[in-house]
Parts: sequence; C-alpha cells; structure tokens
Amino acid sequence: MAKNIPLHLNVNNRDFDVTLDPRVTLLDVLREHLALTGTKKGCDQGQCGACTVHLDGERVLSCLTLAAQAHNRRVTTIEGVAKSDGTLHPVQASFLKHDAFQCGYCTPGQIMSAIACIKEGHTGSDGEIREYMSGNICRCGAYPHIVDAVKEAAENIKRESV
Ligand code: FES
Ligand code: FES
Repeated sequence: MAKNIPLHLNVNNRDFDVTLDPRVTLLDVLREHLALTGTKKGCDQGQCGACTVHLDGERVLSCLTLAAQAHNRRVTTIEGVAKSDGTLHPVQASFLKHDAFQCGYCTPGQIMSAIACIKEGHTGSDGEIREYMSGNICRCGAYPHIVDAVKEAAENIKRESV
C-alpha cells in the first residue's frame, strides 16, 4: 500500500492541508475530502468532461489529474466562479439565459470549459466553439443552446473588458 503524503491545495482561494494516498485523483479529493460536489464524476476515465476544473487557470480533467499534481497550485471549481456577493459569472448567467442544460449533470464541466474556451480565444465561430468544447459531452443533447450561451458570454466578457 502506498504511503500517504501531505498536500497543500488552494481551492477557490481557500487553503486546504490534506494527507492522502498519492494515487487519489483531484476529482476524488474535491468531492470526497473537501465536499465540493459541484464537480461531477461521469466516466472517471477522461471521456466526458463532467469533471473539468481549472488548475492555475487552465482547464484540466480532474479525473485524470492526481491530487498530488495540484500540490501548491491554484484550483478553481464551479463553486468558485461566481463573485463573493453571489453575482454569477457571465458564463453562468448566459447558460441560464439560453437554457443551455436539461438534467444539468454535464453543466459544471461545460461552464468550466466554456470559461477557459473564451479565455483561450476559441469562440470565433459556432464551429470553433463546438470544436473547443467537444471534450464535454452532453447526454441530453443541449449543444445548440450551449453554443449560443458560450457565444453570448464571450461577447459580453469582451465588451466588459474594453
Ligand atoms: S469524469 Fe472525468 S472526463 Fe468523465
Ligand atoms: S444537460 Fe444533461 S447531460 Fe448535459
């Protein structure tokens, strides 16, 4: 059995010190140890995108990321994207406005990917949004509304930053 190791994680601007088996994934730490269950476990093998979070601002699949890889780094989950006063992130607001979900299971991952997709500058066309969001599967097939939501959020974020 692997020896537990001490890890320091910064999640949504909060510091956590945990001691864990080095084989534990970031997804399981978030959900099982830190009670941050907004990040979803779909396939648990890198196929669906439901577990997408940001590591130092870049999107990663937390089911394929070891918690040890997040040691002393900055993790952002769906619980950390709204402002502290409760104001939704523009991508969250846009998903609501465009009804970009049905069951909602894929939605946290979609939103985390969409925030990164906009930051990466991959929203030039519907096709580009579809391509750069293609790692996030929606079993309900809400794709047309998701594309509309990402497109409008990108425009709003661009407008706000001018
Ligand atoms: S749960 Fe990580 S990609 Fe599906
Ligand atoms: S809204 Fe149900 S899986 Fe996407």
